[in-house]
Amino acid sequence: MTEPTMRAIRQVVLGGPEVLHEVEIPKPELGVSQILVRVHAAGLNPTDWSHRAFPIFLGPPPFTLGWDVSGVVEATGFGVTLFKPGDEVFGMLPYPHGVGSHAEYVAAPTRAFASKPENVDHVQAAALPLAALTAWQALNDTARLQAGQRVLIHAAAGGVGHLAVQIAKARGAYVIGTASARHHDLVRGLGADELIDYNTTDFATAVRDADMVLETVGGDYPMRSLRTLRPGGLLVALLPFPPEVREEANKAGVSAQVMLVEHDHGGMTAIADLVTAGKLSPVIAGIFPLADAAKAHELGETRHVAGKLVLTMV
Ligand SMILES: NC(=O)c1ccc[n+]([C@@H]2O[C@H](COP(=O)([O-])OP(=O)(O)OC[C@H]3O[C@@H](n4cnc5c(N)ncnc54)[C@H](OP(=O)(O)O)[C@@H]3O)[C@@H](O)[C@H]2O)c1
Repeated sequence: MTEPTMRAIRQVVLGGPEVLHEVEIPKPELGVSQILVRVHAAGLNPTDWSHRAFPIFLGPPPFTLGWDVSGVVEATGFGVTLFKPGDEVFGMLPYPHGVGSHAEYVAAPTRAFASKPENVDHVQAAALPLAALTAWQALNDTARLQAGQRVLIHAAAGGVGHLAVQIAKARGAYVIGTASARHHDLVRGLGADELIDYNTTDFATAVRDADMVLETVGGDYPMRSLRTLRPGGLLVALLPFPPEVREEANKAGVSAQVMLVEHDHGGMTAIADLVTAGKLSPVIAGIFPLADAAKAHELGETRHVAGKLVLTMV
C-alpha cells in the first residue's frame, strides 16, 4: 500500500530563499495526545528566515519550516478531549522542535492549539499564534503589565509589535511605539498613544518613566532602552543581548530579561478571547500560495513589513 503524502516546503541545505522547494513528503502520523490538522493557512515569522539560513535550534536540514497554523482537525489521538474532527483550530507548534506548518498537514500536541475565533478567517487566524503569543507572554506572563502603566514597544508596526500594541491597550496601558513615519497612522489606528520615528528621533532621550520596554530590534536598542525605564522597570528582550546590558541594568536599578516564546494553550485561549471581543486583530501585509514561500521569505527578510505575511494551501 502506498503511504499518504502531502505538499510541503522543504529545504535540504541552509541558505537563501532559493533553497526552499515545494515537494511531496509523507503525511505526518498522529501521536498520543495529538491532533492531526489540515492546514488552511500558515503564518511566517522572522524565525523562519533565520532558521532557513542558520543552524540556530533545528540542526541541519532537511526540514519544513513554519510554526503558525490555522486549520481544521482531521483526526484526534489517544486521550484527546479538547477537540474533535471538524473543529477549526489555530495555534503555534512547539517552539522550536515542533516546526513544520508550511505543509498541508501537521500533527502536534493538542494544547498547542485553541479554537479559532469565528469572527476571523483562517488567514487572519494563521497570522496570530507565534507573534501574539510572544506579545502575550511578554506583557502578561513576564511583565504582568497593569492598567495605567507606560510601555515602550519597539518595532510597533512589526508582526509582534502591532499585536503587542493592541494587547497592551486592552490591558489599559499607555503605549509608546517606535516605527518609521510611514507606519505611524497604521499603529496609531491600533491604539498607540505616542509614536516615535526612530529615523529622526532618539527614543532614549524622548521616553522617560516607562514601566516596561518590549525590545524586538537588537543591536544597541537593549542598552539604550534601559534609560527609558523608571527605577524598578523591566526590559523584556526578544533577542539575546550582551552581558553588559544586565550589568548596566543592575547599576540603574532596573531589570532586563530575554524571553523565548513557548506553545501555550492558555495563552492561545486568551488571544482567542481578545479576538472574539474585537480587541485584537492582525494586519495582513501579504498572502502567498504555499508554492511561493520563497517570495514571502524575501519580503519578510526586508525587516520593514508592517503586520504579517501568511501562506495559504492553494
Ligand atoms: N524571543 C522570541 O520568542 C521571539 C518571538 C517573536 C519574534 N522574535 C524576534 O523579534 C523580532 C521582531 O519580530 P517581528 O515578527 O515583529 O518582526 P518583523 O515583523 O519582521 O518586524 C518588522 C518591523 O520592524 C520595524 N523595524 C525595523 N527596524 C526598526 C528599528 N530600528 N526600530 C524600530 N522598528 C524597526 C519595521 O518598521 P518600519 O518599517 O516602520 O521601520 C517593521 O514594521 C525578530 O528579530 C524576531 O526574530 C523573537
